[in-house]
Amino acid sequence: MPAQPAFEKILAEASSRLGAASRLAEVEELRIRYLGRKGVLTEALRSLKTLPPAQRRAAGQAGNAAKQALEGQLFAAAARFTTPQPVRSVDVTVPLHDHQPGHLHPISLVLAELEEIFGSLGFSVVEGPEVEDAWHNFEALNMGSDHPARDMQDTFYVKGSDRPKGEFRILPRTHTSGVQIRTMETEEPPLRIIVPGRVYRNEAEDATHGAVFHQLEGLMVDQATSFADLKGILLTMAQRLLGADTKLRFRPSFFPYTEPSAEIDMSAPNVRDGAWIELGGAGMVHPDVLERVGYDPDVFQGFAFGIGPGRLAMLKYGIQDLRELYKPDIRIMEQF
Ligand code: FA5
Repeated sequence: MPAQPAFEKILAEASSRLGAASRLAEVEELRIRYLGRKGVLTEALRSLKTLPPAQRRAAGQAGNAAKQALEGQLFAAAARFTTPQPVRSVDVTVPLHDHQPGHLHPISLVLAELEEIFGSLGFSVVEGPEVEDAWHNFEALNMGSDHPARDMQDTFYVKGSDRPKGEFRILPRTHTSGVQIRTMETEEPPLRIIVPGRVYRNEAEDATHGAVFHQLEGLMVDQATSFADLKGILLTMAQRLLGADTKLRFRPSFFPYTEPSAEIDMSAPNVRDGAWIELGGAGMVHPDVLERVGYDPDVFQGFAFGIGPGRLAMLKYGIQDLRELYKPDIRIMEQF
């Protein structure tokens, strides 16, 4: 059986060498010797994976404690040889003549407003990773590796993640829907969450499509959640954000993870003469998805939606081309 690494011995040896160091360069040498890529402690931590699972947990805790202690000692040792720089005094009373105050980006403004609206309806904000595995982005949402619905979201994959089993591939997430799964995996129902964040698609860009854009996912699961709740909540959001005259239209659609599914359009009288503009996709969470995360579909139902805050910002601020929102052009940003 492989022996457990002697973390305490390594730490004691490193501490005594650090105590004897007389220059900053020696401290750095010791950092590399113990914590560098091939360092003594790094290798010992790496060897943990050869231990039987029963021993791995305790040994891992000891290893991490040793690492943390050593990092603290390295920091303190480095501080012995570093002279603190005096802070230059700043006169905060000098008036700023030629400076304009900064302000938030239009998408941040819309997201802040959405968080406030949904917050008042009992939803809390959850975030998820922008680099996702194919299990959460696709498989757990009923999109197996050869499901044609994947083609609707042409994807950039991370190089080298091309392993034989589809669900281990790694990708910049193509939508925020994976966070539905991540949340349901760890939380018990009832649940009301929104998930704002950036997503990435291999998209031919145009005035309403970017390759990088924002989405806001919503998920509500409870014992009597219905499609009527979905409609009421989205209409409340649209009217609070864009005005009481805003209308929504639900068109039948298909998403593998909702049933029934709909595409939502919105129309506001003062925007593009009230033309219908696509806002997002939505539907009732598919029972298979609920079952997969351990929720009983005979007891719980839920709705989910994914809307585009960039499109909402276009409507709210009269922006003609979504791409302007992702360019660092100060002349445009100053207009908000
Ligand atoms: C989805 O991404 C689904 N995950 C939405 C969903 C969530 C359905 C939960 C059911 C349940 P879709 O690809 O249609 O669906 O994107 C949703 C919204 O994101 C679009 O309506 C649009 O507002 C925005 N969007 C999509 N692609 C782009 C793009 N390339 N640029 C800017 N906004 C986009």
